Amino acid sequence: MNRIDKLLASMTLDEKIGQLNMATAGQAVTGPIVGAPTTEAIRDGKVGSLLNLFGSEATARYQKLAVEQTRLAIPLLFCADVLHGHRTTFPIPLAEAGLFDPETWERTARAAAAEAAAEGIALTFAPMLDIARDPRWGRIAEGPGEDPLLGARFATAKVRGFQGANLAAPESIAATAKHFCAGGAAAAGREYAAVDISERTLHEVYMPPFRAAVEAGCAAIMPAFNSVAGVPMTSHMRLLRDYLRRKLRFDGAIISDYDAIAELLIHGVAADRAEAATLALKAGVDIDMVGGVYLAHLPEALARGLVDMDDIDAAVRRVLTLKQRLGLFDDPYRHAASAARQMHPADELSVDVARRSITLLANHDNILPLAGDLRRIAVIGPLADAPAEMLGPWSLAGDPSRCVSILRGLRAALPQCEIAYAPGVSAKGEEAGDIAAACTLCAQAEVVILCVGETADMSGEAASRAAPGLPGRQRELAEAVLATGVPVVALISSGRPLMVSWLADKARAMVATWFLGDFAGHAVADVLTGRFNPMGRLAVTWPREVGQIPIYHAEKPASRPANPAEPFSSKYTDLPVEPLFPFGHGLSYALVTLRNLRTNRHEFSRGDRLEFLIDAVNESAIATEETIFLFAHDLVASTARPLLELKTWAKVALAARQTKTVALTLSAESLRCLDDDFRPVLEPGEFDILVGLNADRRTLLTTRLRALPHGARES
Ligand code: GLC
Repeated sequence: MNRIDKLLASMTLDEKIGQLNMATAGQAVTGPIVGAPTTEAIRDGKVGSLLNLFGSEATARYQKLAVEQTRLAIPLLFCADVLHGHRTTFPIPLAEAGLFDPETWERTARAAAAEAAAEGIALTFAPMLDIARDPRWGRIAEGPGEDPLLGARFATAKVRGFQGANLAAPESIAATAKHFCAGGAAAAGREYAAVDISERTLHEVYMPPFRAAVEAGCAAIMPAFNSVAGVPMTSHMRLLRDYLRRKLRFDGAIISDYDAIAELLIHGVAADRAEAATLALKAGVDIDMVGGVYLAHLPEALARGLVDMDDIDAAVRRVLTLKQRLGLFDDPYRHAASAARQMHPADELSVDVARRSITLLANHDNILPLAGDLRRIAVIGPLADAPAEMLGPWSLAGDPSRCVSILRGLRAALPQCEIAYAPGVSAKGEEAGDIAAACTLCAQAEVVILCVGETADMSGEAASRAAPGLPGRQRELAEAVLATGVPVVALISSGRPLMVSWLADKARAMVATWFLGDFAGHAVADVLTGRFNPMGRLAVTWPREVGQIPIYHAEKPASRPANPAEPFSSKYTDLPVEPLFPFGHGLSYALVTLRNLRTNRHEFSRGDRLEFLIDAVNESAIATEETIFLFAHDLVASTARPLLELKTWAKVALAARQTKTVALTLSAESLRCLDDDFRPVLEPGEFDILVGLNADRRTLLTTRLRALPHGARES
């Protein structure tokens, strides 16, 4: 009998259920209940894990209670939301996804893990892997955007970064793939709302990042709050037990979201808490986050014969195994013994990732980079001198005092410039502000840097917006500044694409600066001055108006594709169907064109490797790094296939005036689709391969090849 089984055999029912109970320590508030754990609850073995607590001393204090004053000395598991950094804050995930760079995604997770582990955290509730195609949903900020392949690559990189090669290593923490799944498809973009999508969409769009996380060995998974087709994810037998545990063979811990087990009563699938506990436990949920439902009602469910001891033992075994994999039985304090590591070794990485996350959306007349002989700049707007906002949502341990505002970054980078500043209006209030004073400064300037957008709390959880435009009176400010006639460079700080097509039409340049973390100001200044050539690309389509939502590159064909010249076609009568900026969009200061797409074959079979070559030509005198995307369109299949499916991408560095041939390779298997049983199958027939710098189909180079029926020989 191994150590875990021996321990399990020695445990009382209360001690077993205690391991399934996660309490909040309340150092941060991330949900509706904040009942701090009592020391006697821990002494009585009623708490197996704590969330929202970090710091070597604080975690050691609680750990001492558990390992020295409980009967079995089972160590506590300390958990927190380390989503985009811990003490060092990196750009929000939606921005970082725009790097299209798995190596960097892994590095930032690794750096965050080291800082978090040094403060006693053993598990993070990250990566957040919700595919999102609706900017009304505030949590779009937390995830990898709209594309399943991008989400899957992001998942793999983040799990590897957080967990490293050895979960028991001092700088590793357990990763939790969340929220399983499809919360991004919430009705009307409203947080926690029901999701009703086809099973095919579930498997094609929302599952791939979680499959990748499981394949990467993620230690835990968190079900989503929402229901899918009427079944709450927290008690979804088919998707948790049958799919995750049996089909994908996921043997890690499943941790409920905050009070989500109790919320099964609100979903209307449980008549009482004992039933809620039963549904969740039998579906495979091991830990009850904060709700206290397992603690209070599993004994009753056992007595009522709703669950049996095997169900409880299976959950406890997985929790104890997770603690063992983390090395907590061998050294409960290992995560708290390295306080010395709490300096900031990741600062340079944070600056680098912030620069690379910046997305240049528009640059008319090449007003950017700013001319070196500029002498008078007006920096206007409520996000100009707002350092704390640069942390973005879900920065638990971030330090606002470390943050560099956009204004401070510009002043540091342009000492020779007279930089006047006025907020104009508040970020989200309706108070009058002083637009006139702001416009006076503009009139004396050669260029205006307009810093507008959201505050950090306007995206993330419970931050859905029905009208995701510029908040408060910012549009009024922007219109007045534009009316001065001074050229305007608009910087959009936000956790989501904002509906600002009116601003894009009038500003000379527009830059998505998202929430870039500690060194936002330096990163923005490096890009605006040309010291750094922007390379960020959109991981999510940017709509013109909210009425276009959901809008994304991988849409399936309409029976009559949009055609402005054809009355009977899938178009709007009041708006173009194209987005303001497509998936993958992002300008640099260079001008790169792609030519001469060619391939090594025009027919292929299972097992073949497909290679595509394309020439990338830097027509400018500026060195650059470009991201080249390869999409596929399966022209005829057993079900309608998306017009563009991202299949791979490549990054290429080009010196001034340099041309390089870039290779993009695919396996034949990557062109499979899912059959009626959602099993991948390579169907014979023709595929278009489309290559370009973003998902604007009109700009893509195309070649066609054919999958041969199984067993046929190439002609
Ligand atoms: C929140 C979030 C989840 C987070 C958890 C703990 O409600 O939905 O993403 O990890 O609670 O803070």
